[in-house]
Amino acid sequence: MISLKNLTLNIKGEYLFSIEDYTFEAGKKILLVGDNGTGKSSLMKCLINHFPFMEGEIISRGEIVYQPQEPYLFQRTVRDNLKLSGMTRQEMEEGLKELYAEDILDKRVRVLSGGQRQKTALLRSISKATDVLLLDEPFSQMDEKSTIVSQRLVDQWHREKADRVLVMISHDVELLEMDFHEKIILKDRAFFVEKLNEL
Ligand SMILES: Nc1ncnc2c1ncn2[C@@H]1O[C@H](COP(=O)(O)OP(=O)(O)OP(=O)(O)O)[C@@H](O)[C@H]1O
Ligand SMILES: [Mg+2]
Repeated sequence: MISLKNLTLNIKGEYLFSIEDYTFEAGKKILLVGDNGTGKSSLMKCLINHFPFMEGEIISRGEIVYQPQEPYLFQRTVRDNLKLSGMTRQEMEEGLKELYAEDILDKRVRVLSGGQRQKTALLRSISKATDVLLLDEPFSQMDEKSTIVSQRLVDQWHREKADRVLVMISHDVELLEMDFHEKIILKDRAFFVEKLNEL
């Protein structure tokens, strides 16, 4: 659960938007959309207190795992990165296989393609997250079939515990098959919430 009260994002005089009162409720899957530059990534950074141009109050319960738009990977191999998140060898192999990437386990991160980097990052995020998972355009460089399987993995993560919270930013809305409970739209310097499915 993450609650926002009287939040305003204002970057050096450039007003982005404000939110009077909103809660990312336990158990929900929330989609965050909006055109380039509307402040989606900035809002996500606010949720982990990594955004300096913000005023207001954020109250959160539970551990938050955040996957940025450009995920950071250690400059070693995929295996090393996944091992650091506590994955077993079998989990790594199975996860990569599901994502059509079984051949990258011993590749160095610097030689990976964009989609391969995202697959590594996603497996790591899912394996680390216990309560709240924030994903900033996690499939933007993946091919269509990998996007579909990735969504299944994220859904599976969400279902493992009743009070897990997922917040995901995406542009490829037509490729999304997940049943989100709410959609947040950033538009015209404002914040709108659309209810999609009841919990
Ligand atoms: N640290 C910063 N310093 C100055 N401006 C910033 C900073 N962070 C974000 N901005 C500006 O805030 C606006 C929103 O940026 P943000 O990255 O949140 O957009 P976005 O909705 O995630 O866009 P995209 O779809 O392209 O990822 C942009 O105009 C950006 O240049
Ligand atoms: Mg962004």
